[in-house]
Amino acid sequence: MSALGFGAMLLSITGRPPEDQARATLNAALDAGINFVDTAGAYCLDETEYHHNERLIGSTLRLRGCSAIVATKVGVRRPGGAWTVDGRPSAIRAAAIASLEALDVQALDLLQLHAPDSRVPFADTVGALARLREEGKAKLIGLCNVSWQQLVAARRIVPIASVQNRWNVEDRRAETDGMLDHCAREGIAFVAYSPFGGARGAPVLGTHGRLADEARRRRVSPHRLMVAWMLAKNPAVIPLIGARRPESIADSARASSLALTAEDVAAVDDALAAKPFT
Ligand SMILES: NC(=O)c1ccc[n+]([C@@H]2O[C@H](COP(=O)([O-])OP(=O)(O)OC[C@H]3O[C@@H](n4cnc5c(N)ncnc54)[C@H](OP(=O)(O)O)[C@@H]3O)[C@@H](O)[C@H]2O)c1
Repeated sequence: MSALGFGAMLLSITGRPPEDQARATLNAALDAGINFVDTAGAYCLDETEYHHNERLIGSTLRLRGCSAIVATKVGVRRPGGAWTVDGRPSAIRAAAIASLEALDVQALDLLQLHAPDSRVPFADTVGALARLREEGKAKLIGLCNVSWQQLVAARRIVPIASVQNRWNVEDRRAETDGMLDHCAREGIAFVAYSPFGGARGAPVLGTHGRLADEARRRRVSPHRLMVAWMLAKNPAVIPLIGARRPESIADSARASSLALTAEDVAAVDDALAAKPFT
């Protein structure tokens, strides 16, 4: 599997690009050697078009005639375009079966819980994921937006292959709450989402003085340097990069061949510690 993942969310939610640009962006990620693609049944505008993103990915892969490891998510709904958790076992099951159809596959490569639902016992939600795995509808199970205590509880029910939590300059909890170290120790992938702070954070990252200086010195974009730094920080990390333009994912993807020395990592640590970022 590639060191980086492509997160396809921005190709289907509000502000999404035209379909030909969306396909070109996914193709640019694949051309750059990224073979791990993240999606969700809820990546769409609203409840009228659930699984938009999965259909886009499935059809693009078929047109291209190639395969990739596709990670999808269940457990979030989009009534009226809002993001609402729904961890009821029946909802988890129905969404996973709809994802199989949208991606047109027999088994989901990695089925992730999008977020825990505080109204539903966590063990019940995870139990629904475990049953889907037992039935062969999902090869691997992952969790998003969880604490490591929830990770430990889930692992009593089903093997967990990955945790997908936010990790970026504004939210560095993964480094301090024990999750990164826990994942590395236990052989669980830590899929770091919104590494640039999303579509709003990405332009700001580029204007951060110290980080921009470090990037300029190495003749790379701040985004590419940031991803290389994430890769160097912890072996469990798979940065999950979003894009709406082929150029941006092509640039970020080159982080996997940007080797940083310990001094480089320390320099980026210092740059990121310097506030504010604008
Ligand atoms: N599990 C969850 O709850 C959860 C939540 C949020 C996101 N995610 C996943 O994580 C993925 C990534 O997160 P994200 O899309 O929110 O944010 P992100 O990766 O932090 O930022 C995406 C933005 O970065 C820009 N960008 C990428 N590479 C660039 C480069 N080299 N130079 C300049 N700009 C660059 C893109 O610009 P352009 O648009 O111009 O290409 C895009 O707008 C999502 O797609 C989704 O799969 C998961």
